[in-house]
Amino acid sequence: MKEAQEYRRRIYLARHFPPAVEARIAKRYEVVRNESDEIMTAAQLAAEAKGCDYLLVSPTETVSRPVFEQLAGTLKAVATLAVGYDRIDLEAARQHGVAVFNAPGVLTDACADLGMMLLLNASRRGYEADALLRSGNWTGWAPTQLLGVGLGGKRLGILGMGRIGQAVAARARGFGLEIHYHNRTRLPDAEELGARYYETPEALLAVSDIFMICAPGTPALAAFLDYRRISLLPRNAIVINISRGDTVVDDALIAALEEKRIFAAGLDVYANEPAVDPRYCRLNNVFLTPHIASATEETRDAMGFILLDALEDFERGTVPANQLC
Ligand code: GLV
Repeated sequence: MKEAQEYRRRIYLARHFPPAVEARIAKRYEVVRNESDEIMTAAQLAAEAKGCDYLLVSPTETVSRPVFEQLAGTLKAVATLAVGYDRIDLEAARQHGVAVFNAPGVLTDACADLGMMLLLNASRRGYEADALLRSGNWTGWAPTQLLGVGLGGKRLGILGMGRIGQAVAARARGFGLEIHYHNRTRLPDAEELGARYYETPEALLAVSDIFMICAPGTPALAAFLDYRRISLLPRNAIVINISRGDTVVDDALIAALEEKRIFAAGLDVYANEPAVDPRYCRLNNVFLTPHIASATEETRDAMGFILLDALEDFERGTVPANQLC
């Protein structure tokens, strides 16, 4: 007699995921997918993922209340290949009894490395240097060519001293930067490692020769870096953002860059991605990367695997550490 076929849960892949992650998914689940890998709207996601048990999404998908409503009855879990979950309506997930998982921890080093890449390129005029060489106009070494800002003894102000902020601090100490920070809660002495804590973000801004936003994107932080707060920075400061684009008011940052009130910026994230404000692309004193902080092969595989481990825990009835609700 034929054995009853084991029920294979159906998973919807909203993007193309790393091959090793997709190979593991294919072994365990029935896969339904967004073949094109183009960013989907919430309405497309809800229509395409009908009947699926799980959704595997990324920072580009909005999993809003209507998505939970339309997938109610079959959807059991949403897993996002990201540490941030600002586009997932957790309240709606809770109400529909859907578990949500993210991928923290495994991307800390990659994100901190990218933060340093932005910091170094902003302070040493990486974009202009590269562009000069490629233009064919480089006439040779010159005593006053492309002078940047030295890092030794400068104050790095870190907004958000979680895992990523602390990993940035560890790297930055090696460059001779002093570490200053603001966080919702002050770190215990043993974790501060000499970093100086400020009660308010404003107090931190006032001492930040380099200001790096590492805090998770939350509604409370939307439009945080506005005209007023930028005006608190010391003259010639550098702004780095590896959090979410909407934490910065583009008009304010662009005005400060244009007026050279601040020296430079390094940005990995943008409001309304992928529609980056075109004014950034016309400025020489900003170093831009396209939201790639966690983009290493090792990291993206690890992010996928931590989510698949979480789904397997969920199937066994245990609650993994990365379950958000
Ligand atoms: C990327 O932006 C993430 O949240 O992991």
